Amino acid sequence: MCGIVGIVGSRSVAPLIVDALKRLEYRGYDSAGVATFVDGKLDRRRAEGKLVNLEARLADDPLPGKTGIGHTRWATHGAPVEVNAHPHFSDGVAVVHNGIIENFRELREELEADGFSFASQTDTEVVAHLVAKGLRDGLDAKGAAGAAVSRLRGAYALAIMFGGDDGLIVGARHGPPLAIGHGGDEMYLGSDAVALAPFTNQITYLEDGDWAIVRRHSVEIFDADANPVERKIDVSTGAAIVVDKGNHRHFMHKEMYEQPEVIGHTLANYVDFNEQAVVLRDSGDASNPVDFAGLPRLNITACGTAYLAGFVSKYWFERHARLPVDIDVASEFRYREAPLQDGGLSLFISQSGETADTLAGLKYCADEGQHIASIVNVRESTMARASHSVFPTLAGPEIGVASTKAFTCQLTVLASLAIATGVQRGHIDRATEARLVGELSEAPRYATDALKMEEQIRTLAHDLAGKKHVLYLGRDTNYPLAMEGALKLKELSYIHAEAYAAGELKHGPIALVDDEMPVVVIAPHDRIFEKTVSNMQEVAARGGQIILITDQRGAEEAGMETSRTIIMPDMPELVTPIVYSVPVQMLAYHTAVHMGTDVDQPRNLAKSVTVE
Ligand code: M6R
Repeated sequence: MCGIVGIVGSRSVAPLIVDALKRLEYRGYDSAGVATFVDGKLDRRRAEGKLVNLEARLADDPLPGKTGIGHTRWATHGAPVEVNAHPHFSDGVAVVHNGIIENFRELREELEADGFSFASQTDTEVVAHLVAKGLRDGLDAKGAAGAAVSRLRGAYALAIMFGGDDGLIVGARHGPPLAIGHGGDEMYLGSDAVALAPFTNQITYLEDGDWAIVRRHSVEIFDADANPVERKIDVSTGAAIVVDKGNHRHFMHKEMYEQPEVIGHTLANYVDFNEQAVVLRDSGDASNPVDFAGLPRLNITACGTAYLAGFVSKYWFERHARLPVDIDVASEFRYREAPLQDGGLSLFISQSGETADTLAGLKYCADEGQHIASIVNVRESTMARASHSVFPTLAGPEIGVASTKAFTCQLTVLASLAIATGVQRGHIDRATEARLVGELSEAPRYATDALKMEEQIRTLAHDLAGKKHVLYLGRDTNYPLAMEGALKLKELSYIHAEAYAAGELKHGPIALVDDEMPVVVIAPHDRIFEKTVSNMQEVAARGGQIILITDQRGAEEAGMETSRTIIMPDMPELVTPIVYSVPVQMLAYHTAVHMGTDVDQPRNLAKSVTVE
């Protein structure tokens, strides 16, 4: 999952490409590079690490040229060093690539036998050499690119430039997305519309298998069988997006603080506050809505934090709507060959709408004839466009690699869907619907209150910083939230953290507990609070250092009203996973800040994971 950009321009393009790459840095930041057509040949600048390093390189050694391609990398094949940074060159060819070429080894052997020598350890370099081989064999640029692409197996979004043809870029997509931007006197390619937002809002999304010949004033698109095809031009909303930290130190901090507002926006899309009723707004295919009443089963698939939002909702759908739910991480589901019930609904949850594993799961379910629904934050994403029903989250752009506001908005949509499903299936009467919607409507207010605990959490985070291991415990909907807490702590602070269902601790993991082990317990006072208290006593008896996140009553009954207890406002059970997310996120955030890690761009990660 890398970001790619191409511009066939009418001015010097290297600075424009770097600007667009900044908007794609969420896709990877191991290295970056740009190539342009200069004085009849290709030239490039590359740098290890983040884009600022490439910017510095270009400042020292500028790269002129009006046609160019650029790349920001998340390393798959080969270490994140300059020699592996894109663009990759072969004789008169430059290539940038997002994805994985699965048959690169056999292609590399074949090309080496043919006299091509490789300068990198990447899979991408085979594409450059394949195209160069086509040129050497007498094909024109279009023919050479088409022949090369036909040899590739795996996933790719590609932009290819030719030393012999200024004013031409060939784009191709199989798997990862690729958008073409239409300007007045320039044409653009990019991994998403947001990257191209400074230049144009006129966007054509290539379909899977498409490839395109992009020139300054024209674009020709071909499908996988090389037939010319027309693809429509959409007006993107990406241009409105301002990527700005405001007066916050990190994007993640800003995004945590945006939660009351974006939860409110999202809620407003799904409930009628006056009627205290759910109004399902499906922005997918209006002629094919979901029939929640007749559903035999719901199957949810997602990755990472989005998976954990789905896991929380399993409790809601089963409890409030009596709808059986299967939930899987997409990387397992896609190969599991799960039998799916006729008439079932397959729901995919994703902030980006581009996660490769989740998309593969979606394709499997679509092929099995399931109704496909998605909850996505990026409305123009591949996932949204491949779904019958689309339930958007209105979180706005999420830049921090660690998901925060997208998660709480996903939970908000899922809670609304669970209530609507309960109503349609006859398990929630009108009075209960009004009560549940009323409770959900209070989530933004509780989230605002939760944000006020930042100082206390900052102090507590001191205790976690520098620890080697942390355990998280929760029951019911707070079990997946405990998993989310552990995930946040791992990805932000690099401290090893694991989550367990509180009742499961005694079946093995309790062996880990000693007086060095912090144990974060997420336990609002609820029906099963007493059970969690027993589990906390088991931890305390072994010297574990408990950090309890609960409410006033929970603190009193646990007998732990100490500085290590975060006391949340009293709130209805339905909203606790949404609101308790705030202290859980903040604890991970401040631990990371104490430890001095890169909060918005943690090591080894990328925001959008468009490879397997
Ligand atoms: O874009 P998606 O929601 O499909 O992404 C899924 C995961 O990659 C993502 O949630 C990841 O786990 C986050 N970094 C967690 O903070």
